[in-house]
Amino acid sequence: MLISILVLKVGIVEMGALLMPAVVLTPDGTLAHAFPPPDGKFHYDSDEPWGDLHDHESLVKAIKPVDVVISAVGRTEVEDQFKLIAAIKEVGNIKRFFPTEYGSNVDAGHPIEPAKSGYARKAKIRRAIEAEGIPHTYVSCNCSFGFFLPTMAQPGATAPPRENILFYGDGQPKAIFNKEEDIATYTIKAVDDPRTLNKTLYLRPPKNIYSFKELVALWEKKIGKTLEKIYVTEDQILQMIQDASNEDKIMLVVNFSIFMKGEQTNFEIDPSSGVEASELYPDVDYATVEEYLDQFV
Ligand SMILES: *[C@@H]1O[C@H](CO)[C@@H](O)[C@H](O)[C@H]1NC(C)=O
Ligand SMILES: *[C@@H]1O[C@H](CO)[C@@H](O)[C@H](O)[C@H]1NC(C)=O
Ligand SMILES: *[C@@H]1O[C@H](CO)[C@@H](O)[C@H](O)[C@H]1NC(C)=O
Repeated sequence: MLISILVLKVGIVEMGALLMPAVVLTPDGTLAHAFPPPDGKFHYDSDEPWGDLHDHESLVKAIKPVDVVISAVGRTEVEDQFKLIAAIKEVGNIKRFFPTEYGSNVDAGHPIEPAKSGYARKAKIRRAIEAEGIPHTYVSCNCSFGFFLPTMAQPGATAPPRENILFYGDGQPKAIFNKEEDIATYTIKAVDDPRTLNKTLYLRPPKNIYSFKELVALWEKKIGKTLEKIYVTEDQILQMIQDASNEDKIMLVVNFSIFMKGEQTNFEIDPSSGVEASELYPDVDYATVEEYLDQFV
């Protein structure tokens, strides 16, 4: 089986680059011919010229010999995946397509703007895949360790808080954390698994589900210190969102939706459309929040 991978950033690491070691590790001889692209370009074999998402011919050529296409394009390229869908449709032999997701479930979450449009763009891609009859898997996996844990959803932070902490509401809704490498491992395990065909693969490793309050308590225990809590209400957050710059706005909405609205966990997985990764692959020894935080102490 051949796997072609386009690239994305999940948090601070290149998801595409992480997927490749995971591919090479698969036991059934699965081969990946993909390299971390410098600028949204890709190639699938060292002998091949660089392909281009915006060039239909090169896309078709790249996709033809592969069985599985994993797209890991970034947030601004989500809609470019219509081009990928057209190429997949033309080639006709793709056994599984993973569109770029790696976030919260865009069909279940209902954030306010500007995140709302971002979710809608990904949902449109899902609907197009289904309409075109393309076998698929959607990977739903925020929050990634590297992006969320070092800063604990603190606006503008570059390190975990030591003195005070912006505390989201009552801190009760649960969020889900996954290490980037584990996201890659689970994704690659799913590529040819019939149990994940046409399903959303949710990554909900039981040891990595924390409410904001629990996360803060864990951090305080590790540093042996109680942080001063700056409690913000929903109204205050909504005001902060209004006042924020565009880039901050989107992240503030994401942080608000996850930690105050509990959008990652406020629904049950419907077995007719979703499966959970740590249940399907109990052999994966996933990294835990508990251990990961130690490096920042
Ligand atoms: C998922 O996390 C990334 C950072 O790791 C963030 O940029 C993105 O907006 C999040 N997506 C959703 C849908 O929560
Ligand atoms: C998987 O989904 C595609 C797109 O919706 C559909 O055409 C195909 O028949 C489905 N495959 C199975 C085995 O259900
Ligand atoms: C949202 O959370 C992320 C991850 O912890 C953090 O880096 C960012 O600064 C937060 N952004 C805002 C605007 O709250």
